Amino acid sequence: MNNTTSKDTQEVKSFFDGYANDFDSIYGHTDHQRGILDKLADKLFRQVMLLRFKETLKRTANSAIHSVMDIGCGPGHYCVEFLKQGKKVMAIDLAENMLKIAKGRVNETHLDGKGEIAFLQANYLEHNFEQQYDAACLMGFFDYIKNPEDVLEKLKKDITKEVYASFPQSGGLLIWQRKIRYKMRNCPLYLYSLKDLQELMKKVGLEGKYEVIDLKRDFFVKIDMS
Ligand SMILES: C[S@@+](CC[C@H](N)C(=O)[O-])C[C@H]1O[C@@H](n2cnc3c(N)ncnc32)[C@H](O)[C@@H]1O
Repeated sequence: MNNTTSKDTQEVKSFFDGYANDFDSIYGHTDHQRGILDKLADKLFRQVMLLRFKETLKRTANSAIHSVMDIGCGPGHYCVEFLKQGKKVMAIDLAENMLKIAKGRVNETHLDGKGEIAFLQANYLEHNFEQQYDAACLMGFFDYIKNPEDVLEKLKKDITKEVYASFPQSGGLLIWQRKIRYKMRNCPLYLYSLKDLQELMKKVGLEGKYEVIDLKRDFFVKIDMS
């Protein structure tokens, strides 16, 4: 990572390097041990994670989508499913420990030669790609992004068909505990009202090109990039 990497990015990277196993365990497939309060937060978070997972995979099942960038791929649950769907996948993450888990998950899955994948440890905003991809998946990514306009402008260059992204909602009962948890762990967190989201899309010229599904904790957003 180069010298221009911001303080925010360094904090997100070190947060996710330390949180990789705990985050992976929220999906419920590992026997990693968690405290009682964390378990409760995980249970509530798991519901929205599974909803956004389903919404994304329903859309990538489209045979017109041949290649997918998984931006902030984390522990690789999406990567494995994209591969099962036969896609060409570019998996990008800042955190080395997340990529280690993702690679292990892909290697342990019997894919019978389906799909192909490349892993990249990088800040998405700082990497220039040699080719475009049909789609991009940014789940649980905008939560940590200070300048979402820059990401959306870059996606316009990198992606030709569809973008699927989650945006964390600023309202709701549990938001205070999330804000406190992240503050205590020195990880930046950026939240959105529906109005914030609409203003953001307008600012980057994507008005009328997106649909929003309210998943309660998150907004699931599909953007038409064609
Ligand atoms: C909450 S995890 C979500 C993982 C995965 N998308 C999922 O939903 O299971 C967010 C991931 O985004 C990564 N990330 C955050 N900012 C990033 C950036 N600028 N470039 C690449 N990865 C980033 C973090 O390291 C972390 O692994």
